[in-house]
Amino acid sequence: MYWGTRADDLIVKAMIGLLERNPNLPKERVDDVAIAATTQEGDQGLTLGRTAAILAGLPMSVPGYAIDRMCAGAMTAVATTAGGIAFGAYDVAIAGGVEHMGRHPMGGNADPNPRFLAEKLVSGDALNMGMTAERLHDRFPALTKERADRFGMRSQQKVAAAYAAGHIQPDLVPVALRSEQGYGLATMDEGMRPETTMEGLAGLKTPFRPHGRVTAGNASPLTDGATVSLLASADAAKELGLGVKMRLVSFAFAGVEPEVMGIGPIPSTEKALKKAGLSIDDIGLFELNEAFAVQVLSLLDHFGIDDDDPRVNPWGGAIAIGHPLASSGVRLMIQLARQFEQHPEVQYGLTAMCVGLGQGGSMIWENPHYRGGRKGK
Ligand SMILES: CC(C)(COP(=O)(O)OP(=O)(O)OC[C@H]1O[C@@H](n2cnc3c(N)ncnc32)[C@H](O)[C@@H]1OP(=O)(O)O)[C@@H](O)C(=O)NCCC(=O)NCCS
Repeated sequence: MYWGTRADDLIVKAMIGLLERNPNLPKERVDDVAIAATTQEGDQGLTLGRTAAILAGLPMSVPGYAIDRMCAGAMTAVATTAGGIAFGAYDVAIAGGVEHMGRHPMGGNADPNPRFLAEKLVSGDALNMGMTAERLHDRFPALTKERADRFGMRSQQKVAAAYAAGHIQPDLVPVALRSEQGYGLATMDEGMRPETTMEGLAGLKTPFRPHGRVTAGNASPLTDGATVSLLASADAAKELGLGVKMRLVSFAFAGVEPEVMGIGPIPSTEKALKKAGLSIDDIGLFELNEAFAVQVLSLLDHFGIDDDDPRVNPWGGAIAIGHPLASSGVRLMIQLARQFEQHPEVQYGLTAMCVGLGQGGSMIWENPHYRGGRKGK
């Protein structure tokens, strides 16, 4: 539906939506705007944070910049601006991301240095995310295709249930669009398949390897989208009367072998937990990016969490809703924030995601609505 819509217009719409929903915020109080995109060229180029800030109507005095850590772009925009707030350089910042995977296919015009392959720094298939997911199935035989398919089917069912209950819609920003059918309005995600069955999934092609295990049914689809968030110091939030949805406790990024990039969130989560002085049992809600089912399952197995644990992606995830690379991190946070509102018995939540070329990113959040009771497990 966004084929005729520019990528920068998607992030600008999201930013206008954010400003409209925070009318108390004097626009000139925004100290910086960090916007991520993986492919930073064409309508995703030209230092997006700055261009989007101008187009969204922020005063010329508000600076902005672009960020890239592939799938964890928006998460890195949040981490970086939150770091600036913690340092005292900023009071208020805007952070988000956009990816129009239709206009900017993954890898696009990238020109990887030939040394990567010549010096065997990484194997050729480390650059193909689907192949890295196949390697996870190889490495962990307990991660069967059946488990991955079931996780994919559950994701579809959970997103459908969340939409039916009206949980997703309040955070969406409608986008006017133009297509071959004429003008229209995008008001919900596209491509969801609530009717998915295990039988249907079993018969799908395995595009990354003959007789492989990764399919369109247990992988995130190629999607266009944008997300944005407002960050403030506790003092500024109080002064400006901004509603507090989450408090950032800690964050961490970590590197792993690029050939198995999907396990990246395991060491980044361990690092973030250690920084926070918490254990995995303290986490009451998980928003894990479903780049591939097998990759989420590897984290769950590592931490001894059931595939069906109700704390994990209660409203489904990227397999159903899509994964527009550099924008997905903030979508995880938006959903966690809404779930915090509904679960005052939960004190801490985790957002985590894997990143191409072998990385993981994790952020631990505290629920401002916490009223005591169950902490995590
Ligand atoms: C997996 C991938 C290659 C599939 O692409 P695709 O073939 O264009 O996907 P499609 O939507 O056409 O689906 C393929 C087929 O599966 C079917 N299908 C998809 N999901 C299904 C579901 N849940 N149930 C039943 N059938 C399904 C489609 O109907 C289609 O069937 P057809 O071939 O008969 O038309 C692509 O989505 C991809 O590359 N995903 C990973 C993206 C990625 O790497 N992101 C970065 C992560 S780090």
